Amino acid sequence: MLAIIGGTGLTQLSTLEALRREVARTPYGEPSGALTFGRLCGRDVVFLARHGYGHTIPPHRVNYRANLWALKTAGTRNIVSVASVGGIRPDCAPGALVVPDQIIDYTSGRACTFFDGIDAPVRHIDFTLPYDEEMRRQILAAARNVGEAVIDGAVYASTQGPRLETAAEINRFERDGADVIGMTGMPEAALARELELPYAAINVVVNHAAGRGASARGVHFECVEQVLQEAMLRVHKILSRLCRQ
Ligand code: HPA
Repeated sequence: MLAIIGGTGLTQLSTLEALRREVARTPYGEPSGALTFGRLCGRDVVFLARHGYGHTIPPHRVNYRANLWALKTAGTRNIVSVASVGGIRPDCAPGALVVPDQIIDYTSGRACTFFDGIDAPVRHIDFTLPYDEEMRRQILAAARNVGEAVIDGAVYASTQGPRLETAAEINRFERDGADVIGMTGMPEAALARELELPYAAINVVVNHAAGRGASARGVHFECVEQVLQEAMLRVHKILSRLCRQ
């Protein structure tokens, strides 16, 4: 079963033929919301809204461990994360869809591992390639098949939030090699790897990062809604195709 974790702009999967909802409990507490089980283009899918169905949970308060644990125990085999980002690299402009291939983690203080139990042996997962290459390939193929342009490869910088960045921080992240910036990519990707769940992401660029382009004097989220709605229609097309593959 494929899991889709939806972020801002994707709190419901309208194309999903929902069959049942399930409130999960985990050793790590409650996930962001009920898991919605259903079928998308003939494939079993489970959907979870990362910020809750009413979009009330800020990035630093998402219970990433509970979300991943609940999806794993529900029978998930692999995960596609959909998340909105700010664009740093010039081609990662508002409206662009990006399938990132690397991560830099700038978050702090989040519960970021399943391997911190007193009794459990220490484990160091390999995270050289943080996204599953096969899943990335499948997403790119799905996008190609429905004629949607996506950017193949980008470095995702995960910040703590919930505030947006200063222009100087964006300059620094760019020097570090970051192309897009968001607040939820970590520890989600690492936790998926710890549970051996292949994980990849579709990032929707909704704004120029702080100090860049239209955000030169500030990030104005009023303009984001339209971009987000249009981009999500394209994301739906890609996800539907992915399920048919
Ligand atoms: N910065 C961080 N997270 C984001 C942004 C941004 O500019 N846009 C959407 N999520």
